[in-house]
Amino acid sequence: MSQRIALVTGGTGGIGTAICRALADAGMTVVAGYNAGGNHDKAKAWQEQQRQEGYEILVAYGDVTDEASCAACIKNIEEMTGDTIDVLVNNAGITRDGTFRKMTWDQWNQVLTANLDSMFHMTRLVINPMLEKNFGRIINISSVNAQKGQFGQCNYSAAKAGIHGFTKALAQEVAAKGVTVNTVSPGYVLTPMVAKIPQDVLDKIIKQIPVGRLGKPEEIGKAVAYLASDDCGYVTGSDFSINGGQHMS
Ligand code: CAA
Repeated sequence: MSQRIALVTGGTGGIGTAICRALADAGMTVVAGYNAGGNHDKAKAWQEQQRQEGYEILVAYGDVTDEASCAACIKNIEEMTGDTIDVLVNNAGITRDGTFRKMTWDQWNQVLTANLDSMFHMTRLVINPMLEKNFGRIINISSVNAQKGQFGQCNYSAAKAGIHGFTKALAQEVAAKGVTVNTVSPGYVLTPMVAKIPQDVLDKIIKQIPVGRLGKPEEIGKAVAYLASDDCGYVTGSDFSINGGQHMS
């Protein structure tokens, strides 16, 4: 068996970096997909930082909201690695928080497009080669706020809840061909996205977490690596909650 090839969208971000490292630790060839507003230098600097810390991770530009850009990204990865993608982690996502009454169509649309339409674009491009190989792992990163809703996040909660519907439907379609599809739903993890929340609001949120702290990105990365492993062929259509007990379903 050749080395597994994994693509992590949003791979240079907070949780994305930890996922890339965990998959590299598991022996995979890892590609971090990035958009970064087209800032290729920023992605190269991230790659160099990983290298200095002992991780050889490839980078590939792709705008997950744009079908043609996703296609170019996948083609680039296939050329770089000489093979098709075995593991896709749909991790790229954004927030545009605001109460619903103040929310603009742009805030709604940007979040739905980046967090949900992205699943369609990226997964469509990798699913056929996975089915032909009789092996594939698709892991979609959702959120505790899909499960419980969150004040100020009608857009994000809707998109992230949609992700798990997508997971369950696709899981049924591809299960017989060795392809598993799962959701991971992180709670509040210490990343730049969570750091944007006003401190007084964040303090109140932390009080609602039984474990009493924010999550660590590595705690998400290790769970994704398990779901991505060859050993994990009997887990599909599941939603893996990692939220310090903030929401129990
Ligand atoms: N429940 C009920 N009422 C609330 C509330 C809550 N959770 N939070 C605030 N309110 C009330 C306020 O007390 C205020 O009431 P009054 O008008 O009577 O004073 C009113 O609602 C308006 O609230 P704000 O003043 O906060 O309104 P704002 O427009 O300034 O801010 C907000 C709204 C941007 C949504 C802000 O509350 C916020 O940032 N909330 C955090 C949202 C959040 O958790 N985002 C998660 C980002 S990280 C992420 O998404 C990763 C992940 O997957 C977990």
